[in-house]
Amino acid sequence: MNQEISSRLQADAPIGVFDSGVGGLTVAREIMRQLPNEKIIYFGDTARVPYGSKSQETVTRYSRQIVRFLQTFQVKTIVVACNTASAYALDALEQEFDIPIIGVVKPGAKTAAEVTRNGRIGVIATEATIGSRIYSQYIKELNKDVTIYGKACPLFVPLAEEGLWQDPVTDEIAKRYLTELIDIDIDTLILGCTHYPLIRSTLGKIMGDKVSLVNPAYETAIELKQMLEERGLLNQETPRLGTNQYQFYVSDGAEKFKRFANSIIKYGILSAKTINIEEY
Ligand code: DGL
Repeated sequence: MNQEISSRLQADAPIGVFDSGVGGLTVAREIMRQLPNEKIIYFGDTARVPYGSKSQETVTRYSRQIVRFLQTFQVKTIVVACNTASAYALDALEQEFDIPIIGVVKPGAKTAAEVTRNGRIGVIATEATIGSRIYSQYIKELNKDVTIYGKACPLFVPLAEEGLWQDPVTDEIAKRYLTELIDIDIDTLILGCTHYPLIRSTLGKIMGDKVSLVNPAYETAIELKQMLEERGLLNQETPRLGTNQYQFYVSDGAEKFKRFANSIIKYGILSAKTINIEEY
């Protein structure tokens, strides 16, 4: 991204954040915490979720439509707050759009490579993200002496969406998925799907104290802040009250989305609107 592009972007413009549905709210929440002056336009593709079982071609097509929609708000940058879309579509989006776009995979991979002591890292994510081997690829670029073990955990997504964050059913399924990672003695576990931070306490309990959990949402907000600072795009002004700092759009089920969002974000979701994403 060159200087010319940065200079036509406005520091007080919003940040576009998107996900296949509600999961990316864990990333939006971190951005709200770490960058309290920023405005956010969030899009959740609730009509077409899940992305984790779809092809690269389909996820890339969906992601392009969403970026075009977010650009109608003159966003200054876009955060792909979905691991699957980051794995499958980020390269294409970066090539096709003249705006800084960051994903959640690289920041999480970087932290895991720094945190591990025994060089054994586990990644849990959707089937698509695990199949893409994207976490392995990024981690190996940073440290080729580590071993990465991937495990798809598709049932965690519906469990998190049903609000079963601390529940015997979630405990049981987590034990089944994670036992093999415990047996091979990983010391670092990447929560490589946007929903997993919601069941973090269950995952921590099962993995035990010796395993560090890496939440890419947290690392992504740090990287976003650095990137905006470097480009002089950090919003220095506190948004005035009543200026709709956070706006939410979905492709279906706005009321359900709003209820879920209000249960995890404590900054007041005023409204969520349904739009027809196929038009973009
Ligand atoms: N947001 C997706 C991810 O982080 C999980 C849900 C889905 O499969 O769409 O990979």
